[in-house]
Amino acid sequence: MSAEEKLNNHNLDDGAGERAQVLELPMPDDFHVHLRQGPMLQAYVRRLAATCGRALVMPNTEPPIASADAIVQYRCKIEEAAEIGFVPLMTFKLLPGMAARTVDECACAGALAGKYYPCGATTNAADGPRRPEDVAAALSAMEAAGLVLSVHAERPGAPAFQREKLFLPTIDCILDTWPRLRVVIEHVSSRETIDYINSRPDRLAGTITAHHLLFTIDDMLGEGLDPSLFCKPLIKFEEDRGALRQAVFSCSPRFFFGSDSAPHPVQAKLKRNAPGGIYASPTEIPALAGLFEQHGALDALPAFLAKNGAAFYGLPVTGQTLRLTRKRWLVPEEVDGCIPLCAGKELDWSLETDGS
Ligand code: NCD
Ligand code: ZN
Repeated sequence: MSAEEKLNNHNLDDGAGERAQVLELPMPDDFHVHLRQGPMLQAYVRRLAATCGRALVMPNTEPPIASADAIVQYRCKIEEAAEIGFVPLMTFKLLPGMAARTVDECACAGALAGKYYPCGATTNAADGPRRPEDVAAALSAMEAAGLVLSVHAERPGAPAFQREKLFLPTIDCILDTWPRLRVVIEHVSSRETIDYINSRPDRLAGTITAHHLLFTIDDMLGEGLDPSLFCKPLIKFEEDRGALRQAVFSCSPRFFFGSDSAPHPVQAKLKRNAPGGIYASPTEIPALAGLFEQHGALDALPAFLAKNGAAFYGLPVTGQTLRLTRKRWLVPEEVDGCIPLCAGKELDWSLETDGS
């Protein structure tokens, strides 16, 4: 029986209105995650590996992952840190003036994507390109090698809520200048970007996070201020969340899961000038199961979590599964020294391994 058939078996009400207690999903892929470097790497990797079999690892570490050697070493550290069975998918950071040869070497080292962080757009992005021309040779090499261009699509310095929309002309320019390059707009947060992706050729796709699907700006600052929900791009408005939900509930192959789980220690998040980033790995999958179920869209969850992204990146489906059980639990205020997504809230689905 396929994972999807099992999903249906387990999840459809039995007609007498009794709800299934087990949700069996194809093992999710996370196509955008920050695992950092240093002593916390192991905890972040293991937390992620509890619910995702593969993940595209972002290169905005310090120093950045921007060479074949750095890719090989970082992958090795992640594999050592993980329990068996977890596959890190590697990226490199596009730096101004990066040579075509460096890109070719990164491709040989197994990188699937190069990441474009506009200079100053987010955490550890001060060294990013100011315009696509700054990385033109690298983009041509990526196009030739069949690598994916992964973009933090925000225009630095623009009004905070318009940064994503105002970056779309730059995406246009990239798509026109490199007509065979496959491009992913990361962590899509606005209705305009959903509409934009749908209007462009299918070599353009978007990742979507759990937090942009779950929350609006009112959750962050409508009542008590919740700095744990501060991230780039900002969580936006009801109509934006509605467009994101529509895109994933409709199973559109143009959109897939990228958590943008971005851990920052609690102390850093509670300071003035706190960094953007939400630690989503501990709760994102149970939270998404609850959201999709609430909207009668559980059938769309496997495509979003485990099919569309793999298809876009040309990866095989793994056949592994993840089981959740219907068990209400209170998300703690702190996990791995960070505030987890949905801290202090109750979730309906638990990881089977939560055991207790
Ligand atoms: C990310 C981080 O902390 O590395 N922060 C964030 O707010 N999402 C970087 C990023 O993806 O923008
Ligand atoms: Zn990110």
